[in-house]
Amino acid sequence: MSNGQKYYITTPIYYPSGKAHLGHSYSTVAADVMARYKRLQGYDVMFLTGTDEHGQKIELNAAKEGISPKEYVDKIVEEFKKLWELLEISNDKFIRTTDKFHEKAVQKIFKILYDKGEIYKGKYKGWYCTPCESFFTDAQAVGKKCPDCGRNVKWEEEEAYFFKLSKYADKLLKLYKDNPGFIQPEARKNEMIKFIEQGLDDLCVSRTSFSWGIPVDFDTKHVVYVWLDALTNYITAMGFGSEDDSNYKKYWPADVHFVGKEIVRFHTVIWPAILMALGLPLPKQVYGHGWLLFGNGDKMSKSKGNVVDPVILCSRYGVDAIRYFLMRDIPFGTDGIFTNESLIKRINFDLANDLGNLLSRTVTMIEKYFEGVIPEEKREGNIDIELISLARSIVNDYENNMNNFKFSSALSKVWLLISRCNKYIDETMPWELGKIPENKDRLAAVLYNLCECLRIVSILISPIMPSTSVEIQKQIGAKKEFCNWKFAREWGILPKNLKVLKGSALFPRIDVEKEIAELEDILNSQKENQKNDEENNIIKLIDIEDFAKVELICAKIKECEPIKKSKKLLKLTLYDGKSDRTVASGISNYYTPEELIGKNIILVSNLKPAKLCGVESYGMILAADCPDGVKVIFIDEIPPGSKIR
Ligand code: MSP
Repeated sequence: MSNGQKYYITTPIYYPSGKAHLGHSYSTVAADVMARYKRLQGYDVMFLTGTDEHGQKIELNAAKEGISPKEYVDKIVEEFKKLWELLEISNDKFIRTTDKFHEKAVQKIFKILYDKGEIYKGKYKGWYCTPCESFFTDAQAVGKKCPDCGRNVKWEEEEAYFFKLSKYADKLLKLYKDNPGFIQPEARKNEMIKFIEQGLDDLCVSRTSFSWGIPVDFDTKHVVYVWLDALTNYITAMGFGSEDDSNYKKYWPADVHFVGKEIVRFHTVIWPAILMALGLPLPKQVYGHGWLLFGNGDKMSKSKGNVVDPVILCSRYGVDAIRYFLMRDIPFGTDGIFTNESLIKRINFDLANDLGNLLSRTVTMIEKYFEGVIPEEKREGNIDIELISLARSIVNDYENNMNNFKFSSALSKVWLLISRCNKYIDETMPWELGKIPENKDRLAAVLYNLCECLRIVSILISPIMPSTSVEIQKQIGAKKEFCNWKFAREWGILPKNLKVLKGSALFPRIDVEKEIAELEDILNSQKENQKNDEENNIIKLIDIEDFAKVELICAKIKECEPIKKSKKLLKLTLYDGKSDRTVASGISNYYTPEELIGKNIILVSNLKPAKLCGVESYGMILAADCPDGVKVIFIDEIPPGSKIR
């Protein structure tokens, strides 16, 4: 039933530069849970997701495969869509930045900003790293190498358009001050304030060195550069800049943008500044969630020792189990580690034991003692009052947590009720009541109460586990109309002579040993495939003497702070087992100082010193260049000073 209010929620639009993985699924499942929760409450929901398809990286990937960029993205976008279907994502729209209406709207937006003097023509100069799509200064590109990924850089100078981002610093700070909830969680807001206080540069919004992008229609050798193209999807998908802008009028401003923590900056600095320049309303909130980490703190899905392919996981354990795990195991907003073991434990304990057993015991007893239909005659017991009042208070707690995106806490509240029900069975001992005919009315009340609790549970878990919710309702014979949000707080809604229908187990218990062995086999065959792929690539060989020239040691990060003049560099104070030394590292887009302090890393200790943005740097730390960002290699178990060879 409609409550007359609207709710607009978005996910980031994903780069279709590789396979959609469990990390991407995390953002999308969370947004889906919120969208379903709001629909349950009667909101008119608009849930948007999509893909961010332009840029040089895509152009190069396509060229490597000998196909056009559009052919390349078409293939991957299909895989994203299939994965969302598999995960029961209920998005109302899916935008591709190659959609014609988006391209036209971006051209219009660019022109409006240019005509208003918010965009001007200038020159971009510097050392350019193609894979990172970034320019660097002389000081940053030491030895003509990219400070982020270490690859060769080349000098490039190009005419470019710039957006006057720098003039919005004060307005942005005021926005955060006047709207304390705009950036969430709180810690991310403090990072953004610090970032702006260091001073904002104008933002390059066009490029001429590649062509896979939206042409600037009044200066066609330029294509619109990444973020202006990407961020505007949130309004163009609603029809802004198109003939029919009724959705824009209805749904904008968005209630919340869900984004990963590394792109909070783009959404809370660049995006509001663009909207301010256009004179449009700002989104109400940006929520920066944490990362799902795999294996040794790796953000990507290629993890050692764990099967993490979402398609394989769903086929083995079911979609709802994966959705439940993602929302329950990792408090939204913080990072969390995925392992097969933790997933299997959650399935066995929470889903098979607690929830699955509760349903199957309840329905089995109703079939056994009452041939599937609870008699109307019931006798209340004192113990029932506590169960009923707990059920009521759980709904309030659940709602408070869900409203604040605390999915894990919301679920833990629901599980309090489930555990209480299981205890209620032990306390009331229906098998004893069933032995004495005079107690049949008491037995009927106990089993009815359990069905009422299961009905409430099925409503509350429906945004997270949609199919399980329906299956519970089917087995306890609860018609759809009794499972509305408005009945979540009501007691005694199910018919007095309820008829149940036993079905199969919700979540069969997993034999841990057998399962881990089977997963091992999957991993081995994945490794074999990877090895074959690698062997098919040409590898440049070096002599052992070449490698021996590089001195690698373990060092501990004692202190870390941003370098004021640089957007990318962090200044690290490292203890290398003998003394402290300073190293500048181009990783500030990927890590906050707090995430690095106290970690042990691999240091190239015999690199010639170099001055980077005014900081004398004595060495380099090792990081991996992954498709979705740079990851420092942490080796916390190794003592500082240990030589690595
Ligand atoms: N295209 C940009 C976003 C533009 S939004 C206007 C982008 N794409 S991305 O594909 O690299 O990342 C999309 C989202 O996926 C980000 O929010 C990112 O944090 C999220 N994730 C990718 N891997 C992840 C994990 N391992 N864990 C959680 N989320 C992660 O950035």
